[in-house]
Amino acid sequence: MILKSLKLTHFRNHIDSTFDFSDGINCIVGKNGAGKTNLLDAIYYLSFTKSAVGSTDRITINHEYDFFTLFGSYDGLTVALQFEKGKPKIAKIDGQEPDKLRKVIGRIPLVIVLPDDTSMIREGSEERRKFFDGALSQINDVYLEMLLDYNRLLKQRNSLLKDNIGMPIDRKLVEVYDDQLIPLSVKISQHRSEIITAFLPFLQKNYTDLHNLGEQPGLEFKTQVTQTFKEEFKANFKKDQIMQRTLLGCHKDDFLFVLNDRAIKKFGSQGQQKTFIISLKLALYDFLHHQTGKKPLLLLDDIFDKLDDSRIELLVELLGEKRFGQVFITDAREDRSRQLFTNKKVNFIEIAG
Ligand SMILES: Nc1ncnc2c1ncn2[C@@H]1O[C@H](COP(=O)(O)OP(=O)(O)OP(=O)(O)O)[C@@H](O)[C@H]1O
Ligand SMILES: [Mg+2]
Repeated sequence: MILKSLKLTHFRNHIDSTFDFSDGINCIVGKNGAGKTNLLDAIYYLSFTKSAVGSTDRITINHEYDFFTLFGSYDGLTVALQFEKGKPKIAKIDGQEPDKLRKVIGRIPLVIVLPDDTSMIREGSEERRKFFDGALSQINDVYLEMLLDYNRLLKQRNSLLKDNIGMPIDRKLVEVYDDQLIPLSVKISQHRSEIITAFLPFLQKNYTDLHNLGEQPGLEFKTQVTQTFKEEFKANFKKDQIMQRTLLGCHKDDFLFVLNDRAIKKFGSQGQQKTFIISLKLALYDFLHHQTGKKPLLLLDDIFDKLDDSRIELLVELLGEKRFGQVFITDAREDRSRQLFTNKKVNFIEIAG
């Protein structure tokens, strides 16, 4: 996909800005606080209807206003998004509002690399699940639907367990939830387990391309949802009741990142962790391209700050390859980027801030 132009209104520090992009590499430069990351986040919003950096819609509106709008013109379609305080968020594809906001997700495949993405290695399982769920949701809207249903039912079951402290619990009602949660857990975990197999060759290729030192990256899927899950889930009710939450299910799934068969979280150096994450994101790019037939937008925020010179050179070479379509890259150091891309066709966009 190609994003031809983007109009931002009251979106963080962009009060009323329009940007035109080229179909190759777009390098967004400007000093700290100019609004480079905000511009990438606006592009992300149009693909996922939410922020990549985790901020709420409310705080995304410019301080002085009550709403923000985004309007993206792509090759072949337009996507608009508006959020006004106190109202539901609205999206329009080619001027038409889909029956559900989530229908927008997957229309414009996108991969973003953010400066603190390595936290995905260090932190709990949620971030890693989010990554693979994001990948699956972009290629399979039934999966996205199942995931949203699961999260809603889990929340309801958990609040039932919480609200009943010291009181007899309505077992019949709990069972209504169980009967829906159990099969959903099985299906969701199955999809997650399968994606590893499809994903791994892409990860290995990208890791090698960036860092050819005979290191072998790997992925392992950890789940409680095995053959006997239904029985275990039911037998666990007493424990759930004591802990006041659902202890078993696909919400506990995890993905282990390994390098040469060892957990990268424990044994990987910072450089290895950074290379792993960038390879993982580029693998997501290849995976989505392979699955959808469309080249995703690739958004790289401050990526040069994360790498040493030799890896920066390798990356710049990679980005120039035909397999990548439209790329958006930010850099606070304009001179560095101009030098790195000297022999490449790059559209420089300067944000004054
Ligand atoms: N809701 C808001 N209303 C107005 N301004 C906001 C809002 N939210 C964030 N900002 C401003 O946006 C600016 C940050 O923009 P952004 O993070 O895009 O900068 P950047 O160009 O990526 O900088 P850096 O080079 O440091 O990464 C800050 O000045 C911040 O005050
Ligand atoms: Mg930034």
